[in-house]
Amino acid sequence: MEKRKVAIPQLKEMKKAGQKLKMVTAYDYPTAVIIDKSPIEMILVGDSLGMVVLGYEGTVPVTMEDMIHHIRPVVKGAPHTLVVGDMPFMSYNVSREEAIRNAGRLLKEGGADCVKLEGGQVVAPTVRAIVDAGIPVMAHIGLTPQTASALGGFKVQGKDAVMAAQLLADAQALEEAGACAIVLECIPAQLARLITEKLTIPTIGIGAGPWCDGQVLVTQDMMGLFDRFVPKFVKQYANIGKIMLEAFEKYAAEVDAGAFPDMEHSFTMKEEELRKLE
Ligand code: KIV
Repeated sequence: MEKRKVAIPQLKEMKKAGQKLKMVTAYDYPTAVIIDKSPIEMILVGDSLGMVVLGYEGTVPVTMEDMIHHIRPVVKGAPHTLVVGDMPFMSYNVSREEAIRNAGRLLKEGGADCVKLEGGQVVAPTVRAIVDAGIPVMAHIGLTPQTASALGGFKVQGKDAVMAAQLLADAQALEEAGACAIVLECIPAQLARLITEKLTIPTIGIGAGPWCDGQVLVTQDMMGLFDRFVPKFVKQYANIGKIMLEAFEKYAAEVDAGAFPDMEHSFTMKEEELRKLE
């Protein structure tokens, strides 16, 4: 049966029906093509791009142009998968007008189906403004990498009752503002369960335990393609980095030894043509 792209209103229905949502990140065409063949319903072109593809220390330097450049090939490669484009730092924080304009660019120029932005109650009016402009918005609370330094680094959020109550209030404000789903990053599993029970929109967890409505992982983390640090919540499903390193080493050794290319991987011309050169 051909895979069909999940429509935004279906997300709530899937939650109601107890169907788990699966999302992974992608930043290029070949990865998108592979994901499109899998049962994964959503691709996030995350601003994790900055760290796992562009080699930055964090996500802050990522620009709108970077995001559009990487959303386009993903959309081309995955026509049967819902594509969510991350709004980079400062693309939605200055004014609502700018937020709407930039969200629109991710759809018009990138081809994304939905945008994602970070923040709680403070960004709820911005979420409302973007949704009112006809653009689906996925929210993101808990550990929000764009403001990680203000949060004291990459660490679990909402461990005490005061912080947990704030995160619950954030989630409810974002649902009221019209968000179609909400990413919960690095929060205690029990808090994620409580938020999941209180909302009608799906929660998508990353480091938020098993009781969310869906899960998201960064592809480079789960495939062993990013080893600068590996968070506790990452499960490595394959070690493609190791396979690639072995292949590169073998190629280098064969070139050094003159074993590659052999005639099987070379072109030939007729002897008579060659003789004309003598
Ligand atoms: O940018 C990203 O990849 C994300 C995920 C960590 C959810 O926001």
